[in-house]
Amino acid sequence: MDFTIKRFEELSHIMHERRSVFPSSFTGEFVNDEILVRILDNANQSPSHRHTEPWRFHVVSGNAKKRFARFMQDSYKIHFEGENFNLMKYNKIAKKIDLTSHIIMISMHRDEHAAVPEWEEIAAVSCSVQNIYLSLTAAGLGGYWSTPAYFIRESRSFFKMHESEQCLGLFYVGVPKEDLPPRMEKRPVGEKVKFYRN
Ligand SMILES: Cc1cc2nc3c(=O)[nH]c(=O)nc-3n(C[C@H](O)[C@H](O)[C@H](O)COP(=O)(O)O)c2cc1C
Repeated sequence: MDFTIKRFEELSHIMHERRSVFPSSFTGEFVNDEILVRILDNANQSPSHRHTEPWRFHVVSGNAKKRFARFMQDSYKIHFEGENFNLMKYNKIAKKIDLTSHIIMISMHRDEHAAVPEWEEIAAVSCSVQNIYLSLTAAGLGGYWSTPAYFIRESRSFFKMHESEQCLGLFYVGVPKEDLPPRMEKRPVGEKVKFYRN
């Protein structure tokens, strides 16, 4: 088998380039809704055991961002009371959302028959999130998966979720600045692989 094929090289390049880009590195520009839908369509191509396709996406953009920022700050306040409350972090929440083009709430919809174990459904949703990451890299966009407990706890009061849906966090999407902080390098794959040849 010839592994020097162009498609493999291109995909490897995108995977090695993939990184989390945080809102502090966004320009504040907007991403076209059509591009966002293409990215979510790539997410929708993910594998799932028994074809349950458990990934669900709730997208916040435009005017809804202001309402979402207030909701996030209120949730933060509920979770961090008294001396645990940090005004800088509280203010940063709104700033982050302002710099973001689209906020995707990631959720897992468990099918009514619970046909496969929950962990398999979470794994399938995670595959879809990796497709989002890779699509953003290929499109020259950026973002990251964020899982704050204070938000996950309160998510149902903002989003219209089915009772069988479970929130798995937020994905912030934006246009990256040119001067990004260094990418997080991975430890060598050799440390994580064992071959059994005999
Ligand atoms: C399941 C999951 C949850 C994450 N939650 C957070 C989070 O709450 N806050 C955060 O800063 N990064 C979060 N991240 C992003 C990681 O910080 C990021 O992937 C890690 O720093 C490695 O960097 P890279 O994505 O550039 O390789 C999460 C990533 C995953 C896979």
